[in-house]
Amino acid sequence: MSFSQSHLLGIEPLSPSDITAILDLADQYVDLNRREVKHSDALAGLTQINMFFENSTRTQASFELAGKRLGADVMSMAMQASSIKKGETLIDTALTLNAMHPDLLVVRHPHSGAVDLLAQKVKCAVLNAGDGRHEHPTQALLDALTIRRAKGRLHRLSIAICGDIAHSRVARSNILLLGKMENRVRLVGPPTLMPSQISEFGVEVFEDMREGLRDVDVVMMLRLQRERMDGGFIPSEREYYHRYGLDADKLSHAKPDAIVMHPGPMNRGVEIDGEIADDINRSVIQEQVEMGVAVRMAAMDLLARNLRARPKEVLA
Ligand code: NCD
Repeated sequence: MSFSQSHLLGIEPLSPSDITAILDLADQYVDLNRREVKHSDALAGLTQINMFFENSTRTQASFELAGKRLGADVMSMAMQASSIKKGETLIDTALTLNAMHPDLLVVRHPHSGAVDLLAQKVKCAVLNAGDGRHEHPTQALLDALTIRRAKGRLHRLSIAICGDIAHSRVARSNILLLGKMENRVRLVGPPTLMPSQISEFGVEVFEDMREGLRDVDVVMMLRLQRERMDGGFIPSEREYYHRYGLDADKLSHAKPDAIVMHPGPMNRGVEIDGEIADDINRSVIQEQVEMGVAVRMAAMDLLARNLRARPKEVLA
């Protein structure tokens, strides 16, 4: 099984065999993470720098833990306090980083495309931890691993992605990944929260939640991303919950063994009922967090193998 990439910038450039290579290795790291001694030296001697220009709880913690468990020297830069706030450009930041010789750079940035730009300027492997509304590849990969382990396969499944699709990089990366692996993807939500170029995605769109969830294998809920909204996209949170919040009644339209997912952070009582989120028979939200560490370990391990196999200039 081969992994052909020098960076992990999105799901778009990945082949189905790249995706399978990450998931297969991640399965092994799930086992390692469940042992008492959770340590490997796959990244020993390498330096990993995390740069989060946007707030993050689980993604940053997960990347940090993943690097540490693989033996890398991990540094998380406090971007709030950095020179960026003093007007330094992304390109100057890249030059500064190059001088520090990192091997792996994990970046989250509020602007779509900023991570790709940085990857062109630095001489190391870059992992996109979320750029604007564009992509969040490790989230889609951890979701895929969670689905594959719960359902025993990652093809010919019917998956509903529900809620604020328009502002969601998680939705975009998941649509790309699930499509590449030959699943049927449905988008469910109000028209105001659907992306404008929806026809390009090759998915079915539903405005009614009960219709959209009918007989699906997976229900993936998304947060209302208010920080990316610049107007009234929904009438009120109460009305939104009534029409689109996942509760027992709406979930009863999905298959009886359908799983419930959410990337977090969750707004209970807005897009999901707290009892559904905590129902261990349906919700795999905690598994998603567990798979996140393993998937990030696998992605960094595979990138490091490619990094070691070629001269540094090729990555520039
Ligand atoms: C997501 C993100 O940042 O895009 N969260 C995450 O990484 N777990 C989704 C969100 O913020 O709603």
